[in-house]
Amino acid sequence: MLQNVVFDAETIARRVRELGKEITDAYPEGELLVLGLLKGSFIFLGDLVRQIERPLQIDFLVASSYGTEKISSGNVRLLYDPVTRLEGKHILIVEDIIDTGKTLRVLLDLLSERAPSSIAVCALLDKELMADPPTEIRFVGFKAPKAFLVGYGLDHSEEYRHLPYIVDLD
Ligand code: IMP
Ligand code: MG
Repeated sequence: MLQNVVFDAETIARRVRELGKEITDAYPEGELLVLGLLKGSFIFLGDLVRQIERPLQIDFLVASSYGTEKISSGNVRLLYDPVTRLEGKHILIVEDIIDTGKTLRVLLDLLSERAPSSIAVCALLDKELMADPPTEIRFVGFKAPKAFLVGYGLDHSEEYRHLPYIVDLD
């Protein structure tokens, strides 16, 4: 059952504008590749890149770890690999939410092998459950409650992604 609105559309938009500015200010010269982790980041990424005022490229990754369950399996598979070259570029991975962080750890290992000039992560939400979070997590929208959240790209069994706000399902 859909429960309370945790982050409304206006609150999200305000924070996304701030993140865009943080990212704009953080990067030195050089190519920036924004790498969205599908499908959950699609709305966030669309809003975020329009707030970044510098040249950038966009590509996507598809990883699967959840299936239809609400708990992370840790069994991360790459279903789509970016065709864009990562070598020598600043890579900014855009994630909807960091839960156990298992998905992220696997991705960071995989992508760092491709000789990018830097790798950072921008997550809209972080449940802050990781005991030893990777230093690559440089930009976080909000600290998330431990509930299961949907909306603004986040799903449960592919439902609710289109909601313009974020609600908890528990
Ligand atoms: P992790 O590997 O446990 O960090 O899981 C990360 C992925 O699981 C996210 O990118 C989401 O797609 C999904 N996920 C984790 N927590 C939630 C949630 O509360 N709502 C919806 N999806 C979630
Ligand atoms: Mg999902």
